[in-house]
Amino acid sequence: MLKIDNLSCNYKQIIALSDVSLHINRGEIVSLIGANGAGKTTLLRAISGLQKIRDGKIYFDENDITKLESHDVAKLGIAQIPEGRGLFSILSVEENLRLGAYVRDDGEVRSDIEKIYAQFPTLREKSQEYAGTLSGGQQQMVAVGRALMSRPKLLLLDEPSMGLAPIIVEEIFEVIKTLRDSGTTIFIVEQNAFLALSVTDRAYVLENGKIVMSGDSLELLKDERVKEAYLGA
Ligand SMILES: Nc1ncnc2c1ncn2[C@@H]1O[C@H](COP(=O)(O)OP(=O)(O)O)[C@@H](O)[C@H]1O
Ligand SMILES: [Mg+2]
Repeated sequence: MLKIDNLSCNYKQIIALSDVSLHINRGEIVSLIGANGAGKTTLLRAISGLQKIRDGKIYFDENDITKLESHDVAKLGIAQIPEGRGLFSILSVEENLRLGAYVRDDGEVRSDIEKIYAQFPTLREKSQEYAGTLSGGQQQMVAVGRALMSRPKLLLLDEPSMGLAPIIVEEIFEVIKTLRDSGTTIFIVEQNAFLALSVTDRAYVLENGKIVMSGDSLELLKDERVKEAYLGA
């Protein structure tokens, strides 16, 4: 579904990504793990058309999307939940959800909002409150809901666990698993390697802008190098 070939990105002299290749099959849940500064956010932004690419190619469903603008990438069915969630804090929860549907022009926006409320009952209770007044976990649910409003084929999540209490993180990851089970393909970027490897099918390890390892998540979870570098063992 997604194929990245030899991608390189830089910020002036800083090389953020160098020769990154990876792929995601339809229906899979894949993670990219790596320390702070490894280049994870840069990679997601490159997929979404938000990042200048120096070299390499990105294909989605056989289309070359390397040079597309972000709204055209969104129209093809890729939704990103950015680091820090990117909500509009002085818009209501429901207005934030509606914004997620901006790439659509069908008549089913209302019924999709109802589906989100069915999945996250708290959001129905808080639908008219400012998003900025919600707890971190609730805001992450709004961010997930907003991304789902575009009916994405591929969902990109940048550090969904960041800043959240462990019990909330578990809840968010339960939702992510439910989404995968309902057929959405998911790519999760995480510093929390244990969490990411526990819920995904496959994973890539990014160090200093390069993919240094990849494989089945459960295999990586047992790998000595991964344990030492990322699992504090
Ligand atoms: N806007 C920017 N200007 C200059 N350097 C940046 C910018 N954004 C990120 N970088 C640098 O690019 C590298 C990768 O950053 P990033 O993709 O944010 O990593 P991660 O998400 O894994 O923490 C880091 O060295 C970071 O300092
Ligand atoms: Mg980041």
